[in-house]
Amino acid sequence: MVVDPEPVPWSRHTYDGLAPAYAAANRTIRRGLVPYADRLLAHAGTGLVLELGCGSGRDLQHLESLGANVVGIDLSAGMLAESRRQVAAPLVQGDVRGIPLRAGAVAGCWCVATLLHLPPEQLRIAFAELARVIAVGGMLVLGTQRGSSSALELDPYTGQYMRLMTRHSPEAIVDGLTAHGFRTHLESSTVDDLRGWVLVTAIRHDVELRGAQ
Ligand SMILES: C[S@@+](CC[C@H](N)C(=O)[O-])C[C@H]1O[C@@H](n2cnc3c(N)ncnc32)[C@H](O)[C@@H]1O
Repeated sequence: MVVDPEPVPWSRHTYDGLAPAYAAANRTIRRGLVPYADRLLAHAGTGLVLELGCGSGRDLQHLESLGANVVGIDLSAGMLAESRRQVAAPLVQGDVRGIPLRAGAVAGCWCVATLLHLPPEQLRIAFAELARVIAVGGMLVLGTQRGSSSALELDPYTGQYMRLMTRHSPEAIVDGLTAHGFRTHLESSTVDDLRGWVLVTAIRHDVELRGAQ
């Protein structure tokens, strides 16, 4: 068992180690997410679509196959190596808490099952970064597991690594995004493979509009 008390290097180590097993177990996009991908790409048009925490590339591959202008970012080099087998898109090693893109570069952002691995008090750092890189008018699709706990758990893929699993309440997600300049829409999918998930679509709006509301 490998445990590092500091969440981010620890997440990197964990996902580097379990990348092949994760990739083997997660080959295709969850059925319930497909309409969200369609919506994101319709909104982003030819603009840049970022998958933040792209992991082994299952959703990135889906987005790319639909013709999106995509880039994948992930903390783990091992997961990015798995992504590279799936997609031709640019892949960059980076942290959701310091996204290596310029302000306003992104027309659409897909962030699914990534914020699970941040301690709750660091959620606002990720939201500030999302607000910085997503252009005014751009769309975010955010998916994470529903709950109100944060604890180390043994990974279900190899049983050898610990992951910090933070489950967020819908209110924490919606309030945090709203405070960072997003107009949010919370949804609960009835599709089986998204049971227990929080799914939020959000539009980045400009400061004047926000102030006028
Ligand atoms: C559960 S996997 C999800 C991967 C992919 N989104 C999917 O749904 O298959 C979580 C991913 O988030 C990445 N990750 C964890 N913490 C991160 C951080 N602070 N910044 C960027 N990526 C991170 C991990 O390396 C891992 O690839």
